[in-house]
Amino acid sequence: MKLTADQLRDKYLTFFESKGHAVISGASLIPENDPTVLFTTAGMHPLVPYLLGEPHPAGRRLTNVQKCVRTGDIDAVGDSCHLTFFEMLGNWSLGDYFKKEAIAWSFEFLTQHLGFAPDQLSVTVFAGEDGIPRDDESIAIWKSLGIPEERIYALPKEDNWWGPAGTTGPCGPDTEMFIDNGQPACGPECRPGCHCGKYIEIWNDVFMQYNKTAEGTYEPLKQHNVDTGMGVERTICMMNGLETVFETELFAPLMARIKELSTVRPDEETAVRAERIIADHMRTSVFILGDPKGGVKPGNIGANYVLRRLIRRSVRYAKLLGIESGYTRILAEIVIDNYKHVYPELEANRATVLDELTAEEARFEKTLAAGQREFDKVAGALKQHGQTTLSGRTAFKLYDTYGFPLEFTEELAAEQGFAVDRQGYEEAFKKHQELSKQGDATFKGGLADNTVATTRLHTATHLLHKALQMVLGPHVQQKGSNITSERLRFDFSHPEKMTPEQIKQVEEIVNDVIQRNLPVTMETMSIEEAKAKGAAALFTAKYGEQVKVYAAGDFSLEVCGGPHAATTGELGGFKIKKEESSSAGVRRIKAVITAKT
Ligand code: SER
Repeated sequence: MKLTADQLRDKYLTFFESKGHAVISGASLIPENDPTVLFTTAGMHPLVPYLLGEPHPAGRRLTNVQKCVRTGDIDAVGDSCHLTFFEMLGNWSLGDYFKKEAIAWSFEFLTQHLGFAPDQLSVTVFAGEDGIPRDDESIAIWKSLGIPEERIYALPKEDNWWGPAGTTGPCGPDTEMFIDNGQPACGPECRPGCHCGKYIEIWNDVFMQYNKTAEGTYEPLKQHNVDTGMGVERTICMMNGLETVFETELFAPLMARIKELSTVRPDEETAVRAERIIADHMRTSVFILGDPKGGVKPGNIGANYVLRRLIRRSVRYAKLLGIESGYTRILAEIVIDNYKHVYPELEANRATVLDELTAEEARFEKTLAAGQREFDKVAGALKQHGQTTLSGRTAFKLYDTYGFPLEFTEELAAEQGFAVDRQGYEEAFKKHQELSKQGDATFKGGLADNTVATTRLHTATHLLHKALQMVLGPHVQQKGSNITSERLRFDFSHPEKMTPEQIKQVEEIVNDVIQRNLPVTMETMSIEEAKAKGAAALFTAKYGEQVKVYAAGDFSLEVCGGPHAATTGELGGFKIKKEESSSAGVRRIKAVITAKT
């Protein structure tokens, strides 16, 4: 059966209305009262209080369409089905019906309203784990509906347990429905959940009967809930016999315009991936910026940072296709026009969406221009020495510091007749990842977590350290530090209270470095090499032979596990809140940054 997204939404809501559900509106993409996630990630998310027992004003059976953003899989975008924004159709029982009705209705809707044949359907159920038994009830229900045993797969928690949406909250075993597209199995292990493309997940019925506590335990909920979710994009893709979600009408006009705007076509695979990334990221950015709650703008922290990352990633890939500056506005208009009849907030916020995108695109162009200068410098040196290959290390630096994807560097290099040492790049990348992991472990004590905020405060600590040495003298040595997402605390050797004048001077130096927007770069070397370069190296016993040395431009050099901000400009501003004694001969500073948003 062929179906548009509009028809699918209607059909779904009407079906569940006929089963006694109240149609409620979808919530904002920006969660209310939930610090555990940055965006609404599922239809159940805004319903958490009701799943926990609070009475819902519309009753105990609800249905809706919910806008969702999930960026955990951002690197997978570019294949046929991963998206950072999607619409989820859902129906809920708040302590009302349970497995029998939920499964029977899912089956009825799929077979009688969407036209799938019962033998196209395979399902998975929870196999039991952690003292929670196998879901025999769901198995029996599926069997009673005519699904034979060989198409019912009992799988572990990893596959058949859903939630909580954040770190705590309602969760439970689920049963997932897959459409078998008829292609041969990829091997004896092929089953629903396999990524070969044979089985496509269409719906998930979650039986939310547990609450995950902050301690990580599962306590039974007062009521037995049902939470189901069906992805609009994937479902219409499948129903219309299309191979990718990007061919559906939700993306088609956007994809067509991207193709028109492209002036360069690298190899086919790279081009297709880039087009999809641009389309996905622009659509998500438009929905975030156009959200009725408002407030999320490109920035350096939390949700603002996710938005910035999406926009910038799209810009990078647009460059790869030779798309001219100013394209974000053009594509955003298409997204708004394509969706405004369903999401009128996009029309209402059209001006904000377009202005914010344009401004962020322009800001990022400046960073890219700096990367281009770096590239030109390296290319010039290579030519001078008659070399023809750009090192993996340089390609990695362009990626890490200036945000150039490898493919982009390869394009630039090819234009000048250079090859890029891909293997060297992969090695540098791996090394960086391993060191980051080590660093993360090393800093568990000092850094509360690795959010963007703490990362920036960490960089601020390096700048403060250096500024203190400049103002007070070389005797200043770090004695300890502690960072939360709110502030940094820095202990250092100094015999007396700092004067207000000295505090002001230190602040000015740090703010000046922030203003200069210096790149923060990292190199790995032996501890001996690092010391020879004059890098501040504290707690040396913690480090192995090879260490990471972070440089904030020409201002500071310090051995450290990281992670750090990419540029000092990201810190926004720096303020010392307190200077006090810590112990004999050791002073303590508490300071904050006012990261730009
Ligand atoms: N919360 C479940 C999911 O996201 C069902 O909606 O899959």
